[in-house]
Amino acid sequence: MERRNFLKTAAASAPFLGRVLGANDEIRIGQIGLGTRGTYELEICRRTKGAKVVAVADVFQPLVDQYKEDADGYTDFRHILDRKDIDAVFVSTPDHWHAPIAIMACQAGKDVFCEKPLSHTIHEGSQMVAAARKYNRVMQTGSQQRSAPHFQKIVDLIQHGHIGKISSIECWNEENDTPEGAGNPPDTAPPAGLDWDMYLGPAPKVPYNRNRYIWHYRWFWDYSGGMMTDWGAHHMDVIQWAMQVDGPLSATAAGSRFCLRDNCQTPDTLSTLFEYPGFVVRYSVRQGNSRRIENRPNGIAFYGADGTLIVDRGSWEIVPENAPRFPNDYDRVEAWLKGANVAFPAGFDRNTRTPARPRCAALGETGLKIDPSCQEAHIENFLECIRSRRRPIADVEIGFRSVTACLAGVIAYRLGRKVRWDPKAGTFPGDREAQAMMTKRYRAPWTLPAV
Ligand SMILES: NC(=O)c1ccc[n+]([C@@H]2O[C@H](COP(=O)([O-])OP(=O)(O)OC[C@H]3O[C@@H](n4cnc5c(N)ncnc54)[C@H](O)[C@@H]3O)[C@@H](O)[C@H]2O)c1
Repeated sequence: MERRNFLKTAAASAPFLGRVLGANDEIRIGQIGLGTRGTYELEICRRTKGAKVVAVADVFQPLVDQYKEDADGYTDFRHILDRKDIDAVFVSTPDHWHAPIAIMACQAGKDVFCEKPLSHTIHEGSQMVAAARKYNRVMQTGSQQRSAPHFQKIVDLIQHGHIGKISSIECWNEENDTPEGAGNPPDTAPPAGLDWDMYLGPAPKVPYNRNRYIWHYRWFWDYSGGMMTDWGAHHMDVIQWAMQVDGPLSATAAGSRFCLRDNCQTPDTLSTLFEYPGFVVRYSVRQGNSRRIENRPNGIAFYGADGTLIVDRGSWEIVPENAPRFPNDYDRVEAWLKGANVAFPAGFDRNTRTPARPRCAALGETGLKIDPSCQEAHIENFLECIRSRRRPIADVEIGFRSVTACLAGVIAYRLGRKVRWDPKAGTFPGDREAQAMMTKRYRAPWTLPAV
C-alpha cells in the first residue's frame, strides 16, 4: 500500500510529458543552432535510422533557409518547443543559451542533447540536472569522448591500476594564433537576417560585433568561459571519469590575454591548477606558441608511479617508468658501489641504477579517429535512451560535474586567487565572492526558468 502511494505521489510530482515511443516509432528531432556543431549533428541524425530531423531553428535566417526542403524552420526556438510532435531537441547554440533552452525543453516534454560545456554558470548546471529529473527527461551532454572506445579503454586501464598511483595529471591546448588572433572587427549593423537581440538573449545588450558571433563568441565572458570551459570541458570530463571523482577541492589560475592583439576577452595564456583528493591537475593553454607537450597539440597525460598514460582524440600510449621499484634499490646500489656483496633482483641494472624491466606494459594505439564514428555512437546512445528511458552515457549530471570543475577554474581566474570548492555540498565554503559567481544576471525578458 505504502509503496503504491509513494509511486502515485512520485508520478504526480513528475509527470511524463513526452510521447511514449515504441521500438519502431521514429524519433522526431528539432535541431536548435545551425553553426559548426549543429550542422554536423544534424547530418548525423539525418543518416541515423529511426530518427528524423523535422524542424530546425537558428537566429540567422539564411542558415534556417538551407533546410527548407526537408524541415520546418524557425528563428525562434520556442516554436520547436511548442510542437507536440517533436520528441527531442539538440541544443548546439553558444553556451549562454544552453541552460534556458534545455530547461524550457524539459518543461515542454522534450528529451535533450545539450552540447558541452553543459552550462555557462554552476547554478545553471544544477538546474539542468533538476529539470531533467523533475520532468523525467533524458539529457545527454555532448562529451563524445565517453562514447569513444579508446577513451573507454584508457579509463579502464587507469581504474585497474595499470600505471600505478597517479599523483599528477596534465592537460593542455597549445597553438599559435599570434599576432592578430580573431582580429579587431568594428561594431557594425548585424548582417541581414540575423536576429541579434535573440542571439544575445539573456546576455547584456551590446552592438553587433563579428567576433561576438560565429565561433569567436567563445572568447567573450558573456557567452562562454574561453578555453577553460570550451576545451577544458572535454579534458576535465575524461579526468574526472578516469579518476572517479566528482570535483576538485580547489582551483587557482594565472594568465592573461598576453599575446593576441584582438578585441576578445578570455585568456590566451592560462595555467589552472586543481587540487583533488590525492592528486593535482594542471590545465595549460597557450595560444601564443604551438610547441607540443608530449608530442601533441592537445591531450591529457596521467603520471602514475608505474607509467605515464597519454591520450588524445587520435591516439594513446603508455610509457612505462624505469625508476627503481623499491626504495632500497638505491641502498643496494650504494652498498655495491662501496664494495659490498649485494644480491640484486633479477633484471636489475647495476650500472644505470635502474631495473631493466619496465614497471608496466607499454601499450598504445595510433591513427584513431573520434569523428564522426564516436559522435555517431554518442547520438545513438541518446536515441536508445529516449526509447528505453535509461540514463545516457554522458548524463546531464556528469556534464554538470565536468563543467563545474571548469567553471571553478574560471572563477579562480577572474577573482585572481585560489578558491576552495566542496563537491558534495556544491558550494565554495565561506567564500561569498566566489558563491556570487555561481550565477549571473539575465537580461529581461529572459530568465533561467524556475524548476
Ligand atoms: N562536442 C564537441 O566536440 C564540440 C565541438 C564544437 C562545438 N561544440 C559546442 O557546440 C556549441 C556550438 O558551437 P559552434 O562551434 O557550433 O558555434 P557556432 O558559432 O558555429 O554556431 C552557433 C549557432 O547557434 C546559433 N544560435 C545562437 N543563439 C541561438 C538561439 N537562441 N536559437 C537558435 N540558434 C542560436 C547561431 O546563430 C549559430 O549559428 C557550443 O556549446 C560548443 O562548445 C562542441
